[in-house]
Amino acid sequence: MKDLISMADLSLEDIREILDLAAEIKEKRSQGKIIDHLRNKSLGMIFEKSSTRTRVSFEVGMNDLGGHAIYLNSNDIQIGRGESVEDTARVLSRYLHGIIARVYSHDTLVKLGANASIPVINALSDEEHPCQVLADLLTIKEYKNKISDMKFVWVGDGNNVCNSLMLACAIVGMEIVVACPKGYEPDERYVIKTKELGGVLTITDNPLEAAKNADVLYTDVWVSMGDEAEEEKRLRDFAGFQINEELIAVSKPDVIVMHCLPAHRGLEISAGALEGPHSVVFDQAENRLHAQKAVLLKLMAGE
Ligand code: CP
Ligand code: NVA
Repeated sequence: MKDLISMADLSLEDIREILDLAAEIKEKRSQGKIIDHLRNKSLGMIFEKSSTRTRVSFEVGMNDLGGHAIYLNSNDIQIGRGESVEDTARVLSRYLHGIIARVYSHDTLVKLGANASIPVINALSDEEHPCQVLADLLTIKEYKNKISDMKFVWVGDGNNVCNSLMLACAIVGMEIVVACPKGYEPDERYVIKTKELGGVLTITDNPLEAAKNADVLYTDVWVSMGDEAEEEKRLRDFAGFQINEELIAVSKPDVIVMHCLPAHRGLEISAGALEGPHSVVFDQAENRLHAQKAVLLKLMAGE
């Protein structure tokens, strides 16, 4: 395995290995113990879009591991002036030991991966967000002590985070129900892939029905980066697709509420659900750091 571009690049065994390593790294960090297996290694971080969690957790993660991270805003490098993705990948491979990229088009990541001789990691594309989902699985494991045989419920847009979660649920053996307004269902290619991986997937437009007996309730923004022009329409179309006290009430008593953040209280999640006793959203955010350090070690320690 060279790259992490899609959640489907990972087997169940890879996921288990990453989660175990992440838990170990997290424990050691809390004790002030240093694991610096990426000494003298450099990571390039290409960003076409904004980021708080992904950028900071990767940069701190590289620093923790003894390496160095270089933030590359796509407007500041020649890619922004038309240098091809292919040439950029080939050149960066001569300097760096790994690349992460947050891009509009998933195809950019595929091209980077195909032309770079070093690992390429998806830091979010229009189709997927696998690093987020690894942190989510780590969080679920911490709270539930397992990652399989549960009911996972997605409420909201059938977007990039939803696609990676569907694939992940299929790989680890969790049932997933996606509740989204008509017209905002996940991409058919991801539905097919999820089923090919053995996933148990239901798509509905009834969030209350979906939430019944849920072990996990998860949502994300109604307007993703790149969808800003549709904001007004989306705010109308998504009304009612909110994680709130009503949905929590029909879920399992120990349901956990998840959100990849950034959150919009009163839109996709009520303030009470986000701040209440079921919410694990800030643990999720913290776990980005630990899960990604495990990915960096898995992919780059041998580089
Ligand atoms: N969840 C997430 O990827 O956050 P950022 O956009 O802040 O990186
Ligand atoms: N779906 C959101 C996730 C942000 C972390 C977006 O793509 O903007």
